[in-house]
Amino acid sequence: MLYKHLKFNDLGDERGKLVVIEGNIDIPFTIQRAFYIYGSDAEVIRGKHANINSEFVLVNVAGSSKVMVTDGKEKEVIELSQPMEALYLPKMVWKEMYDFSKDSVLLVLASTHYDSQEYLRNYDQYCMLMKFFEEKKDD
Ligand code: TYD
Repeated sequence: MLYKHLKFNDLGDERGKLVVIEGNIDIPFTIQRAFYIYGSDAEVIRGKHANINSEFVLVNVAGSSKVMVTDGKEKEVIELSQPMEALYLPKMVWKEMYDFSKDSVLLVLASTHYDSQEYLRNYDQYCMLMKFFEEKKDD
């Protein structure tokens, strides 16, 4: 699986919108970390990595951005622009975030604490590793 779309409930009322994201209920992992990306120009490409151990949920709580996900073979581009919708990314998916609107605030929830060692940042090496796992699976 490259990714999964998630949709959260709107608990808003006449006072405004309210969206709740509970770990292991609304998303398929315990939340260990949250960070958000904003102030990135439209030309910037962020991410460009795969994570060996981490799963992520991405929500554009304001504005919009695009996320390209690939496993080295399949490739998909998903636009995020709704605070009630999210993208779930499993482990070992290569991701690139780009096309940020001026008002984009991209919230990222992660299943792990930060560990720079579990980031694969070289795309060619990532593809080689995925190919290796694929061939092992067929053995
Ligand atoms: P980076 O992974 O390059 O961000 P992105 O994938 O969004 O382009 O991270 C930028 C810097 O922030 C880098 O020095 C690592 C640091 N960082 C942390 O310390 N903790 C974190 O949880 C994240 C995501 C990044």
